[in-house]
Parts: sequence; structure tokens; C-alpha cells
Amino acid sequence: MTALDAFWMPYTANRQFKAAPRLVAGAQGVRYRTPEGREILDGISGLWCVGAGHGHPRIAEAMKRQIDRLDFSSSFQVGHAGAFELAERIAAVAPPGLDRVFLVNSGSEGVDTALKLALAYWRARGEGQRHLFIGRERGFHGVGFGGISVGGMLNNRRAFGTTLLRTDHLAATWRPEQAFVRGQPSEGAGMADELERLVALHDASHIAAVIVEPVAGSTGVLVPPVGYLQRLREICTRHGLLLIFDEVITGFGRLGGMFAAEVFGVVPDMIVFAKTVTNGAAPLGGVIVRRELHDTLMHGPPHLAELMHGYTCSGHPLACAAALAMLDVLRDEALPARVRSLAPYFENAVHALADAPGVVSVRNIGLAAGIELQADAAGAGRRGTRAQAACFERGVLTRAPGDTLILAPPFVSTPSDIDAMVAAMRRAIEDSATEPTA
Ligand SMILES: Cc1ncc(COP(=O)(O)O)c(C=O)c1O
Repeated sequence: MTALDAFWMPYTANRQFKAAPRLVAGAQGVRYRTPEGREILDGISGLWCVGAGHGHPRIAEAMKRQIDRLDFSSSFQVGHAGAFELAERIAAVAPPGLDRVFLVNSGSEGVDTALKLALAYWRARGEGQRHLFIGRERGFHGVGFGGISVGGMLNNRRAFGTTLLRTDHLAATWRPEQAFVRGQPSEGAGMADELERLVALHDASHIAAVIVEPVAGSTGVLVPPVGYLQRLREICTRHGLLLIFDEVITGFGRLGGMFAAEVFGVVPDMIVFAKTVTNGAAPLGGVIVRRELHDTLMHGPPHLAELMHGYTCSGHPLACAAALAMLDVLRDEALPARVRSLAPYFENAVHALADAPGVVSVRNIGLAAGIELQADAAGAGRRGTRAQAACFERGVLTRAPGDTLILAPPFVSTPSDIDAMVAAMRRAIEDSATEPTA
């Protein structure tokens, strides 16, 4: 057996994991295979990224062809066709007006890039005093210093004792009366008006941007009430604030459209994406930017880089090849439409868990659901950890932020895959119902 000591696992209870490892050795379609040959249903699309299913042959072929042709080229002062083509293709499916694309390697880098672009934009316009960012409680924007500053998850900051940006936060869109609402809550658009209060408090002239996930994913699938995002957009427009949608989870199909912006009919000034853009086959992320922002930053002496920012692997040829193939797959297999047609079945299946022991809320949209469990008397997060481990034992991979189990299956799942995932989850919820005495 492989030694497990040296790899410091991210976002993992290392000591507990290494005492009882959960290893996978292969994957195909919606299933992982363990080294012992047991099948595990992928109830979280890898980590919200494998929409087209594991081992998609078109993506694998594209990457194999690419590695033989051009394994690496940076995008600093030299270019290769894949990065340009990918940016054009992403711009073509993005909301109208957003057609300039900065490529990075992850969602965290995408968020930090978007925040830097906002700061640079205002400085270029002579409004450098605008450097306050408004995030939202229970928002997750990755783990860069910018991302944890605008993020609304204390646990991501507590150990580090500092944030580097000036921020304030809107309240999360979650309310107890939404506990078993299907899809978007009809009440609560007015929660967006809190932004007016923050503008009055800080003054618009100090605010660089507002950043939200259209649907908060990592904190347990918090679905915005009908009209909430429209209201945020209106307030941002009224006060001249930039609006950034972090679509690292929602981008490229999860909600049944290419972007949440399209699904909700709200156009932000920037969209951050990652994850599903390559079907998880290679690390890639980016920021899609409104043309005017980009053009404002195309300034300075022509021989100098307009933006002193970028990464060695920005526009990596292998990642671009994977993303181009994924865009073909999304189009040719009509994956967003498939999500739309599977979503009602999925909704019924996850809401049937409402009567499982200790389920206190079920929330869903597209192919994303959060099944929240009653926390143990001993403290938050224990039940969730226990239930997540039990899910793996019962044959479904999930994640449990706090005490909420996430179900976010690949877009290519069938109704019977969904049934199998939900049945395994029900058994795991039952298994984990009793609080350990020790
Ligand atoms: C909304 C959101 N933003 C940013 C990130 C960070 O992405 P990455 O882990 O690729 O840095 C995530 C990751 O789950 C995310 O859900």
C-alpha cells in the first residue's frame, strides 16, 4: 500500500483520513473505482467539475494530440493558437458585452485576478480611492488572500488571522423559511436592498466591486430568491459599482445554461470561471470581462505590458485543448439542455430525503442540492463528517461543508444513477444518525 504520510492533503482531516483512507484508482462516466475494485458513484462531479462524466474520449483524445504537438508555451510575449481560440469560444457563449478573457489555472486565481482588475480599472479611471469590496456571508471565493477577504467563511480565515483587503459583507440569502423550498425561493428579493445600506455606510466612491456566487455552492447550495440578483444588479448600476459573478461552480452547465448569468437573466461586469470548463481534466480558470473594462486598461506606453499580472501556466496548451474539447462536448451533447431536463427528476429525488433522520433542510437548483442535517449536540460539522464517510461506505462520493451533504452529479447521469445516489445517501444519513457517545 502507498505510504500516505508525505502528502499534506488539502481541505482534509489528514489524521482521520490517513487512519481510514478513502482511495480511488480509476473513473469512468459517473463512477469511480477503488483499488479493491469497488464502484463509487460520483455524487459531486469530482469537485463540481466533471459535468461530462469521467474519461470522456473526446477530451482525452484532444489532450493526447496536444501533448504530442506542443506540450508547453507560456503566454508571456509569445502565443499559441489554443489560448486565442479558447478565449474566442468562451466569449461567444458568454453574456453579451463580456468578450475579453483572462486565463488562469484555478478558481482562486480567477477571483484574485478579477479583484485586481477591478482595482486597476478604477485607478486607470482616476478613482483609486475605490478599493473596498463587498462580498457576502457564506460566500466562497477560493483561498487566495483576496478570495478569503471577500469570502464569507470564517473558518477559511481564522487560522491566518488576517485579510488583506478592505471588505464588508452582505448577509447570506438563506432564511429558515426556505428549509424545504424547491428551486428558487419566491420571497426574499428585498434582501439585496442591504447593498443600499452598505453603499450609504461606505459611500459608492470608495467601493470597487460587489462579488457574489449567483448560487452559493460550497456553503451548502444557497439558492437566491427570485429577483434578488436582478436587484443587486440594479443597485450596482445605480451607484456605478462593478458586479462580479463567481461562477466557478455555476459556469458551464450546472444550472442548465452556460452561465448562471444567462439562467437568471442578469449580466455582471465580470464572470470568474474554472472547474467544469475542462471537465476537470486539466487545471484552468479565467475571468470574462466586459469590453469597456478591458479597453480602459489597454493604456500606457505601447511597449509595456498593460497589466502586470499573469501566471506561468496561463493559457497552458494542454488545459486549452481540454477546454476546447469540453466546449465541443457541451454543444454536441447539448449538456445544458440535458441538465434542464434532468433537473425536475433530480429535484423530486433529493426532496424525498426530507423524511430521512435529522434532515432539516433540502435545497436545490439545476443539478445541485444541499441536504442539511441536524448538527450533533457536541458541535457543528461532526454529523456532516460522519455522514460523508458513511456515504463513501455506501458507495457515493459527496462533500459535507458543515452538516450539509452536497449532491451535484455529472450532467450525463441517468435517472437511475440519481436514484442510486439518493438511495445510498439515505442509508448513509440513517447510518450516521446516532451521535457517538465517546
Ligand atoms: C465559487 C468558488 N470560487 C472559487 C473557488 C476556488 O476554486 P479553486 O479551488 O479552483 O481555486 C471555488 C472552489 O470550489 C468555488 O466554489
